[in-house]
Amino acid sequence: MTEAPQAASVAQAETPSDEILRVEGLVKHFPIKAGVFKRTVGWVRAVDGVDLSVKTGETFGIVGESGCGKTTLGRTIIKLIEPTAGRIIFEGRDITNLKRKEMRPVRRDIQIVFQDPYASLNPRMTVREIVGEPLHVHGLSKGAERRRRVEELLRTVGLSPEHANRFPHEFSGGQRQRIGVARALALNPRLIVLDEPVSALDVSIQAQVVNLLDELQQQFGLTYLFIAHDLSVVRHVSDRVGVMYLGKLVEVGTREEIYRTPMHPYTQALLSAVPIDSPNQRGKRERIVLQGDVPSPANPPSGCRFRTRCWKAQEICAEEDPALVPRAGGAHPVACHFAEVMDPLRLAEAAAAQRAAAQATSQATS
Ligand SMILES: Nc1ncnc2c1ncn2[C@@H]1O[C@H](COP(=O)(O)OP(=O)(O)OP(=O)(O)O)[C@@H](O)[C@H]1O
Ligand code: SF4
Ligand SMILES: [Mg+2]
Repeated sequence: MTEAPQAASVAQAETPSDEILRVEGLVKHFPIKAGVFKRTVGWVRAVDGVDLSVKTGETFGIVGESGCGKTTLGRTIIKLIEPTAGRIIFEGRDITNLKRKEMRPVRRDIQIVFQDPYASLNPRMTVREIVGEPLHVHGLSKGAERRRRVEELLRTVGLSPEHANRFPHEFSGGQRQRIGVARALALNPRLIVLDEPVSALDVSIQAQVVNLLDELQQQFGLTYLFIAHDLSVVRHVSDRVGVMYLGKLVEVGTREEIYRTPMHPYTQALLSAVPIDSPNQRGKRERIVLQGDVPSPANPPSGCRFRTRCWKAQEICAEEDPALVPRAGGAHPVACHFAEVMDPLRLAEAAAAQRAAAQATSQATS
């Protein structure tokens, strides 16, 4: 397994001026332990070579099915989890190998809102303690000043200062997520990783929290890395989107490129399940039902990881891992040997026809 890179220089790395975050070849493998002696018998390749670039002030959405590595990617980027390999460059500075102490000032600039508002708030702490905790940890403000700051933060996220002395269980899911957002804002961060911030909430509440995040982004000039499995939510919030499958990004583009002209068969399949906006096309799109389960990230398929479920797979797909590179005609980056735009209304038909053809070929040769 790849060794973590040696003390990458903390010096300024070359970055375009509008780029707040760059991730290069990021890898996170978790050991699989077994037996009495807890020997390492394998590795879960949760994140397996991710490159991405996030621009200041934008919302970069990450989508993919459960277990494809989204949370691990988000947590590794902010170094809640140490990367196995690769580089993380924040505002031109390589933070990959910063020690805990060296990371402290950087932590003020990068925050996270967790996936589960029920599990991520300490039930024994009051809202005042939860929201004020980052200020305490960083030794910022005390006494009356801290009280005022916490109350200001509560108002900013649409809660009342009177809520400060209550405990998390006294709040609804939407209110808890607002508390999580207030905590994330306490140190005036520049980048916030939002890990499925609305997935655990009722649909009626989701829009309120998404609107709040939108307003905060405008007000404070925030950059978001917005992780979700719900493609409709990601479409609503994102400027650019990365589609993830088994630890890798398979397609990256602007919202329009991903939603109007998806080129990777996985993106096309995911999108076939999303309702169409246009009223005259509504109900006409057929859904592509992906065959089989997501393979284990402990033992991913050779070549293209999507090949065991892909209706377009050919021999080369088992042999060569397709690179995430821009495609012909100036198209956005797609990791597929046979990337092409397909009319969404004809996609399911094409998938069924190709499956039937593959079946006929295998019967003829057996
Ligand atoms: N600490 C860990 N130790 C071992 N394996 C882990 C650990 N954390 C995550 N994994 C594994 O890594 C893979 C990716 O998990 P991750 O939680 O990042 O996916 P996800 O895309 O966020 O999924 P979900 O949509 O369910 O939140 C999964 O197979 C998971 O079981
Ligand atoms: S490389 Fe092959 S298996 Fe992978 S998505 Fe493209 S066609 Fe399908
Ligand atoms: Mg997750």
